[in-house]
Order: sequence, then structure tokens, then C-alpha cells
Amino acid sequence: MNILCVGDIVGKPGRDAVAALVPKLIEEHDLELVIANVENAAGGAGIIPKIAEELFSCGCDVLTTGDHIWDKKEVLDFLDQTPTLLRPANFPSDAPGHGFFVIETKRGKKIGVINLLGRVFIRYNTNCPFEAVTKALKEIYRQTRIVIVDFHAEATSEKIAFGHFVDGKVSAVFGTHTHVQTADEKILPLGTGYLTDAGMTGPFDSVIGQKKENIIERFLTTIPHKFEVATEDVGLNGVIFTIDDKTGVTTKVLRIQRRL
Ligand SMILES: [Fe+2]
Ligand SMILES: [Fe+2]
Repeated sequence: MNILCVGDIVGKPGRDAVAALVPKLIEEHDLELVIANVENAAGGAGIIPKIAEELFSCGCDVLTTGDHIWDKKEVLDFLDQTPTLLRPANFPSDAPGHGFFVIETKRGKKIGVINLLGRVFIRYNTNCPFEAVTKALKEIYRQTRIVIVDFHAEATSEKIAFGHFVDGKVSAVFGTHTHVQTADEKILPLGTGYLTDAGMTGPFDSVIGQKKENIIERFLTTIPHKFEVATEDVGLNGVIFTIDDKTGVTTKVLRIQRRL
């Protein structure tokens, strides 16, 4: 089976890219499941119920997030009611929402999806993501051996160490958060598909999605700037993992970079 994982969707341009390109990719690659990171989908920061619904209707099955999950307060109740919209599993247990979910696809395949947040250069003091994945897997294994992890983290070293830690325990790991796609797609020794960062879905003529002039000005002056999503050179970044249904092992990793 083929599973598409979409890198951080940024604002309206990112949503436009999803609407135009995800249905095409579903058809071209006969996708079993689409997972998309939506932490920047609402105006570049956070996610709201209306936009989550819009992305589900474009073909996204499970939405993951990261450090921007709390930016829009409208999402708090919706998170509890929507197990296919995840927040990192290593937040405290009193946080709203769910950190992992087992979804059953249209063809009846069960796939576990786990969302985790790194701890290196990340503003939240979360629980250990390595411990959290072990805990989540104990529950998920009761239903399936096919498991995908979105590890939302800044440091490449933390993501690579995590990939090796879960090698052979999950089907695939894709990184998110940096908005820059890495070219290190691989299958780890025990069969886990891996990509350090899936990249960004949004305006590429920008500084990680925001208007470049504003960000340059901030570096020159240190003055916090207005948050403005850029508009030009829009596209989708992601990765498709081909997974053996029976064993849960990844047999192929294909990076995706499409322009509108
Ligand atoms: Fe992030
Ligand atoms: Fe992001």
C-alpha cells in the first residue's frame, strides 16, 4: 500500500496546493491513506475546525500538528471530538485531544498514526517522545502492525536518533516542522521508511512560508514583525511510503515535490 505524508501546510496557498494536488496524487499512486501536517494551515499559525474539515474533504485522512497546535483557541473542543486530528502524544495527559489513532481505510486496512514533538530547540517542555512512542505502540499493536509517525522536531540529530530507535517497530517516520525538505529518504536496516523532513506545502518564495521582507527586517532590527503568509511559487512537499500490508515493512520511499 502507498501512504502519502504531506509536509506542513501553510495558510491559504498551502490549502490551495492540497486541494489541487492531493486528489491527483491519490489517483496517480493509488494511495491507501493521506496524512498531512496542518499546524500552520490557518493563516500560517494553528488550525481551526472549518479548515480541518476543508482538508478532510480534499482527501486528507489524518491530520497531524506540532508546536503551533494551541495558536487558535477554536480548536480545543474540536480536538477532543476529532480523533483524526492529532496533537503530539507527548504533551501532558491533561492536554485536550489525542496523540495517536488507528484509522480503518476504505479498503479495510488498519493503520496507526502517531504524532510526536521533539524537545531540542522546541519551546515546549514536553514528555520524552521516545518513551511516548513506546507507550503508544503498546496500544496500537493490539490492532495493527502498520504504523506511521510524524515526528515534529527541529534538530536533525533528534529525528535521526528517533528513526533508529523505532526501526523495525514502526512502518515509517517522516519529520515535519522545519519546512525544508531533506534529501535523506531511506529504508533503515530493520525495515522502517524514513525521511528527516517532508518539507512545506505552501509558498516557496518565502522564508519558510512567511513574507521574506518581514523576516529579513526582523533579522536586521530584532523587532517582532506582523505574521504574513507569502503568496508566490506555491507547491506541495511530502513523501510516499510503499508498505507491505502483511509485515508493515517499508519497501520504497519516494520524496514528492510538486508545484501548482
Ligand atoms: Fe512546528
Ligand atoms: Fe510548521
